[in-house]
Amino acid sequence: MLQKIYDWIDERVDVTPIWRDIADHEVPEHVNPAHHFSAFVYCFGGLTFFVVVIQIISGMFLTMYYVPDIENAWRSVYYLQTEVAHGQIVRGMHHWGASVVIVMLLLHTLRVFFQGAYKKPRELNWIVGVLLFFIILGLGFTGYLLPWDNKAYFATEVGLNIAEDVPIVGQEIRSLLAGDEEIVGAQTLARFFAIHVFFLPAAMFVLLGAHFILIRRQGISGPL
Ligand code: HEM
Repeated sequence: MLQKIYDWIDERVDVTPIWRDIADHEVPEHVNPAHHFSAFVYCFGGLTFFVVVIQIISGMFLTMYYVPDIENAWRSVYYLQTEVAHGQIVRGMHHWGASVVIVMLLLHTLRVFFQGAYKKPRELNWIVGVLLFFIILGLGFTGYLLPWDNKAYFATEVGLNIAEDVPIVGQEIRSLLAGDEEIVGAQTLARFFAIHVFFLPAAMFVLLGAHFILIRRQGISGPL
C-alpha cells in the first residue's frame, strides 16, 4: 500500500533522486562505532538534532495551552500541568530537553574542537555552529520566563540587568528584549514569547539548514 502511494507520487514528481541524494550515502569507516568504538563521539551532533526535534514537537503542543499574558500565563501552565491529559509529560519533556540539548551541544562542540574538525575548509561551519549555540542559549533564556512564576520573573530580571551592563548599547539591548518598562512586565512576557516561539526558531531552521548542507558538501572530517 505504502509502496503504491510512493510509486504514484514518484511517477509524477520523480522524488527518488532527491531522496537518494539525502539518505543514500555511505558512512565512512572511521565514524562507524561498529568498527572503532571511540567513533561514538560522532553521534553528538545527531543527538543534539534529535533533542532539538523533541523540543520543537513538545513546544508545539505546549502552545496549544499556553496563554502569553501576565494574567493567564502561570495559570495556563498550571492547568496544563495538573488537568490536561499527558500535559505533565509533554511539559516535562520540554523542560528537561532544554537542559539535555545544552549538554549534547557542549559534547558536540568539544568533539569538533578536540578533533580539530573546525579547521580549513570547515571554518564556516564552525561559525554557523557558534551562531546556533547562541540561538540555543537564547531559547533557554526566553523560555525560562514563560511559566511566569517567581523563579522565572527574578531570573529574567537578573539576566536583563546583566544585558544592561553591556557597554554603550546595554540600555538598547534591554529595551529591545524587555520593552520600555522599568521592571519585567507585560511587554517583556509578550516579547519573550514572540522571540522564543517565532524569531529564534526561524533563525535556527535557517542555520541548521546551512549546517547540514555544509556537512554534506564538505563531508565529515577525516580520521585523526
Ligand atoms: C543545534 C545545534 C547543532 C546541531 C543540531 C549540530 C549537528 C551536527 C551534525 C549532525 C554534524 C555531523 C557530525 C557530528 O554529528 O558530529 C555536525 C558537524 C559539525 N558541527 Fe554541528 N551541530 C550543532 C551545533 C554546532 C556548534 C555549536 C558547533 C561549533 C561551534 C558546530 C560545529 C560543527 C562542525 C565544524 C562540524 C563538521 C565536523 C566534521 O566534519 O567532523 N556545530 N553538526
